[in-house]
Amino acid sequence: MNAVEPLIKVENMSKSYTMGEVTVNALREVTFDLFPDQVTVILGPSGCGKTTLLNQIGGIDTPTGGKLLVGGREIQKLSQKELTDYRRKMIGFVFQFFNLIPNLTARENIEFVLEYVMDMPSGEVKRRAQELLASVGLGDRGDHFPYQLSGGEQQRVSIARALAKDPRILLADEPTGELDYSTGKKILELLVSFANNGRSVLIVTHNKELGKIANRVLHLRDGRVLREVTNERPMPVSQLEW
Ligand SMILES: Nc1ncnc2c1ncn2[C@@H]1O[C@H](COP(=O)(O)OP(=O)(O)OP(=O)(O)O)[C@@H](O)[C@H]1O
Ligand SMILES: [Mg+2]
Repeated sequence: MNAVEPLIKVENMSKSYTMGEVTVNALREVTFDLFPDQVTVILGPSGCGKTTLLNQIGGIDTPTGGKLLVGGREIQKLSQKELTDYRRKMIGFVFQFFNLIPNLTARENIEFVLEYVMDMPSGEVKRRAQELLASVGLGDRGDHFPYQLSGGEQQRVSIARALAKDPRILLADEPTGELDYSTGKKILELLVSFANNGRSVLIVTHNKELGKIANRVLHLRDGRVLREVTNERPMPVSQLEW
C-alpha cells in the first residue's frame, strides 16, 4: 500500500478514434496512478497509445471511456475555468514534436510562458528565461528562431518552456528522442531532479533503457497496460547507457 495520495488517478481510461468506417482503439481500459516525487516511465512501441494517453492526462483531449481524477476530482466535472487552470498551471507538456511558436525566438518562447502563464514581473522574466535556457545547455542560443535550431535543440527549448511553468505534473513525450547520448543524459538528470517537492514526472518513450531510471514503469501494448513494475532503487542517470 502506498500511503501517499496520488496526484492523478487514471481509471479504466479508453480512447477510440472513429474515422468513417474505421475505429482505432488507441487506449483500452488503462488504469494507473501518478504519485508525487516519482518518475513514471511508460514504455511501448510506436502506435501503442503513448501520445494519446498524455493528451488525455494533459486535458487537451477527452477520453471516450473511464475517468481521470485530479486530486480526487474528476476532470470531466471541472468547470471550464478550472480545466483551463489545470492545463495552464498544473501541467507542463513537452510535446513529441516540440510545438514551439515559430516566429518567436527560443528565449521569447520561454518568456511568453513566464509572462502570460506565470504572471512574472517583467524584470524577472529575462533573468529566469536565461536561467532556464542555460539549464538545458542553450544559454548562448536564446536569440535563435526554432528553424535556426536543430531538432535536439528545439526539443531542449520545449523542455525549458515546460519547466518555466513549474508545473506539479510534467508530461514528456519522447523527451530524449532527438538527443545524443551525453545531452540526453543531462536532460534526464534535469527531469529526474524535477520530481521532488510534490511534483511528478511522466515520461513516455519506446526506449526501454529509460525504464531503469524510473520509480515505476508501465508497459503499454496496443492501448493496454501489460504490466507495471516498481523499481525500489532506480538507477542513477549517470549509470544509464543506451
Ligand atoms: N487524432 C487521431 N485520429 C485517428 N487516429 C489516431 C489519432 N491519434 C492517434 N491515432 C491512432 O491511435 C493509435 C495510437 O497513436 P499514438 O499517437 O498515441 O501512438 P504513440 O504510442 O504515441 O506512437 P509513436 O511512438 O509513434 O509516437 C495509432 O494507431 C494512431 O494511428
Ligand atoms: Mg507518440
